[in-house]
Amino acid sequence: MKVIVTKNYEQMSEKAYEVVSDIIKAKPDAVLGLATGSSPIGLYENLVAAYKRGEISFKKIKTVNLDEYVGLDEKSDQSYVYFMRKHLFNGVDIDLNNTNLPNGKAEDAEAECARYTALLETMPQDIQVLGLGSNGHIGFNEPGTAFDSTTHVVKLTESTIRDNSRLFANIDEVPRYALTMGIANIMNAKKIIVVANGTNKADAVYKMVKGEVTEAVPASVLQNHPDVIVVCDELAAAKL
Ligand code: GLP
Repeated sequence: MKVIVTKNYEQMSEKAYEVVSDIIKAKPDAVLGLATGSSPIGLYENLVAAYKRGEISFKKIKTVNLDEYVGLDEKSDQSYVYFMRKHLFNGVDIDLNNTNLPNGKAEDAEAECARYTALLETMPQDIQVLGLGSNGHIGFNEPGTAFDSTTHVVKLTESTIRDNSRLFANIDEVPRYALTMGIANIMNAKKIIVVANGTNKADAVYKMVKGEVTEAVPASVLQNHPDVIVVCDELAAAKL
């Protein structure tokens, strides 16, 4: 695991941008595994800016996202599909048909999970972008999730509902369930980059990098992956 500590969020985002844009330049039809949350927004801003400068193209890029809330789709501004269009897809030349997220509105959630896992098997991520939950979750794989899990339905923990409620009008509006890639789907990526910033991530960053590898801390599994880069700001790195 390679750890890069930056001064602040801007520098973290630029460093993450360098890593992801190198992949896009080397392999114009790469599969990008993408994440939502506030941590990767700066990375996406840098990717959009580079596209606008004519330095990179997403014409042949394919994407797979980590997760989606159950019950939300692109019409909801809280859905992850809405987030991805707003922060990345609408700003670049990607073909929306090449973008994939679990469908939070699927009538049969179990069948949707099976579909998504089958899809991931046909298009392994050249790089997977991850944020980090303050409880060590990755995607929506909460503490206790099996390391061999594939896409599944999750009941969100109280701590995640609380963390994510800042983006909703009030806590009651936060969906209680989500669909998420499993840990095995994430570990199947050829390369993984984790972005984390702020004091409230310091514990999780420490446990991810230096703690015991345990299902109680989902991100600790990344110690078993051969090619992981963690880019975090000084606040998130404070306990390392
Ligand atoms: C959500 C997402 C995760 C994300 C996490 C951290 O729970 N499902 O994929 O990593 O939030 O979000 P933030 O980057 O806003 O701290």
